[in-house]
Amino acid sequence: NIIPVVLSGGAGSRLWPLSREYFSKQCLALTDNEYSLLQKTIRRVLSLDSLTLSSVINDPIVVCNEDQRFLIAQQLQSIGVKKARVLLEPKGRNTAPAIALAALEALRNQSPDALLLVLPADHEIRDVAAFELAVAQAIGLAKLGGLVTFGVLPTRPETGYGYIRFGDDSAVLEFVEKPNLEKAQSYLDSGEYLWNSGMFLFKASVYLNELTLHRNDIFQAVHKAYQQRTEDVDFVRINSLQFSECPEESIDFAVLEKTTQAKVVPYLGDWSDIGAWDSLYDYADKDDAKNVLLGDVMAEGVNNCLVRSESRLVAAVGVDNLVIVETADAVLVMNKDRSQDVKKIVKRIKDEG
Ligand code: GDD
Ligand code: MG
Repeated sequence: NIIPVVLSGGAGSRLWPLSREYFSKQCLALTDNEYSLLQKTIRRVLSLDSLTLSSVINDPIVVCNEDQRFLIAQQLQSIGVKKARVLLEPKGRNTAPAIALAALEALRNQSPDALLLVLPADHEIRDVAAFELAVAQAIGLAKLGGLVTFGVLPTRPETGYGYIRFGDDSAVLEFVEKPNLEKAQSYLDSGEYLWNSGMFLFKASVYLNELTLHRNDIFQAVHKAYQQRTEDVDFVRINSLQFSECPEESIDFAVLEKTTQAKVVPYLGDWSDIGAWDSLYDYADKDDAKNVLLGDVMAEGVNNCLVRSESRLVAAVGVDNLVIVETADAVLVMNKDRSQDVKKIVKRIKDEG
């Protein structure tokens, strides 16, 4: 059995003004108008063929912030997912605790051999066949007790990702989370590293063992908070007081950099972490003038721009390399190369307003 675990934390502040505290980026229909990234993630995993995988795909576990519960419940319902377990974190403590919660939940309801397929809710993947192939390859390794990562071919010295030095037989020789630019460049040049895609497959029990081994403090705190949960038909609420005691750390730093059980399988399809407006632009289909125009937009002599309108007509003339995003109460106009800096504005709004 495979239990999909969808991680949906964080607001995605670099996609302001579309993303807001109560409407995070994974709940937005960013790249098409039909489904949000979260909905697409769940539809993708539920569409995997259990015959090809010779494993049944179970109902998903979604781990998200308490504040997002109604939005997420509604998004699950509208794609016909009725039996997801939705775990609510009072406050996000990053991915190591979030995955530990899902593992405890899985162990309570399933056999200890159930595999968790951990998926970030903010990735865009179109090539389901390649994804299925990678998962199929990972299953055998995970059954043998591996913490399986999915490696992507790196294309630039990105410092926001994890790097995996791969060896023979799916071995991970080294895992380095978010290296500095110099290191990232040398990893890229060496040809010996893959990017960590942020998706994982492992037994719930194996993950909890490794977490206990390397970060027992996180395991203990999560365990306490989970034991003191409250439940109703829709949600599992994690104890707020206990969970706030939990150290904040990602699975990458807490476990993957330290474990000897990591494995890697290549994922060769398309993949994009839609984190900021420039990555959304890069990923989206463009017209002949290399523009991405979404909604009620008119453009004259415009090149290399992303223009998105929500509520009014937006017109652009003679501009290049801009991101323009209009919503009912805020408009962003930005040089596309400065996409990372949107969070400075979001911070100012929080601090000043
Ligand atoms: N429920 C929950 N709670 N989800 C969380 C939390 C949390 O506290 N923190 C993060 N997440 C979710 C995010 O919403 C996202 O879907 C996923 O977990 C990964 O978190 P990010 O914060 O986006 O991680 P990252 O992009 O910096 O790094 C990770 O992904 C890269 C690929 O996109 C790492 O795994 C890197 O190694 C990897 O290269
Ligand atoms: Mg990310």
